[in-house]
Amino acid sequence: MTDPLLQVRDLSVVLARDGADLPVLDRVSFDIAPGEVLGIVGESGAGKSMAGAAIIDLLAPPLRRCGGTITLGGERLDLLTRRQMRRVRGKRIGFVFQDPMTSLNPVLTIGRQLTDTMRRHLPLSRSEAHERAISWLTRTGLPNPARVFAAAPHELSGGQRQRVVIALALCAEPDLVIADEPTTALDVSVQAHMLQLLRDLHEETGTAMMLITHDLGVIAKMADRVAVFYAGRLIETARTESLIAAPLHPYTAGLMQATPAPDAEGVMRVKAIPGSMPGLGAIPPGCAFHPRCDRSRDICRESPPPLARAGGHEAACYFPLQQGGNP
Ligand SMILES: Nc1ncnc2c1ncn2[C@@H]1O[C@H](COP(=O)(O)OP(=O)(O)OP(=O)(O)O)[C@@H](O)[C@H]1O
Ligand SMILES: [Mg+2]
Repeated sequence: MTDPLLQVRDLSVVLARDGADLPVLDRVSFDIAPGEVLGIVGESGAGKSMAGAAIIDLLAPPLRRCGGTITLGGERLDLLTRRQMRRVRGKRIGFVFQDPMTSLNPVLTIGRQLTDTMRRHLPLSRSEAHERAISWLTRTGLPNPARVFAAAPHELSGGQRQRVVIALALCAEPDLVIADEPTTALDVSVQAHMLQLLRDLHEETGTAMMLITHDLGVIAKMADRVAVFYAGRLIETARTESLIAAPLHPYTAGLMQATPAPDAEGVMRVKAIPGSMPGLGAIPPGCAFHPRCDRSRDICRESPPPLARAGGHEAACYFPLQQGGNP
């Protein structure tokens, strides 16, 4: 086995509120191999975005990392200063957020933003950077790259802006790209194109990717492996095919049933998980999912189940579904 590119161990994040620290992420551990796409999935509020933000040190008070280690290519990122982390962001880790405007400077041209980013991180002359910027805009499928190069962000459509953000995330040749809901804010017609673009560029550049989404359909198309989050905890990881064919955790199975899919007659079916994810400060004792779980028993209410290996998965459940997905 190759050494992981990214290694996250016992990552914990808290939110300070009224003098108390509420857990946002509770000892989350996962690895991403070089060139691998890890999908992070879970309902709204599960802590997916916080995991991404904690890795690139973009948490601001009242949020703070309170434990755990983050290692990228053998280097401990959690020990770096804010200033050192700024160099890691952009150069070694690129990112794409839901709203492209959070990554773009509204007053600079697209060309300037691309060339500045590349020249900050790579030894390129002005004209080399210019040439590469045009080439990146071409690769992201933007029509008339020379026009886009000279344009300001507000002159582009939402879909075009997200293509630019993807070019910005990749142009310094990072080892890892963190993409947090990269298609959620876009028109449905554009979403599939954007996913295809991310896939193509991932294959072309060999960069690893942490792909955060609430959409299991996106995961199925894109990810090699999946990590399922619930109430700030990681509750199941597995290879994508295996997770989809035979989830072990009842929450994962519930998420799959809640994803619209056609039945044998071609009719779209969805079955929502009853109840909702607990809010911060209201996470129940034991397994956080137990109030919504039809398999729960006394022990589930008493102590949190540890992540345990079973059939190539890791799942945190005392009563996992059988291999094959049957109860
Ligand atoms: N600045 C903040 N102030 C208060 N609560 C916050 C803040 N940021 C995050 N939270 C809380 O932390 C928890 C985890 O949030 P996070 O944004 O990681 O969820 P998520 O899984 O990314 O959800 P979504 O799918 O909606 O993006 C949620 O309960 C959220 O309300
Ligand atoms: Mg989020």
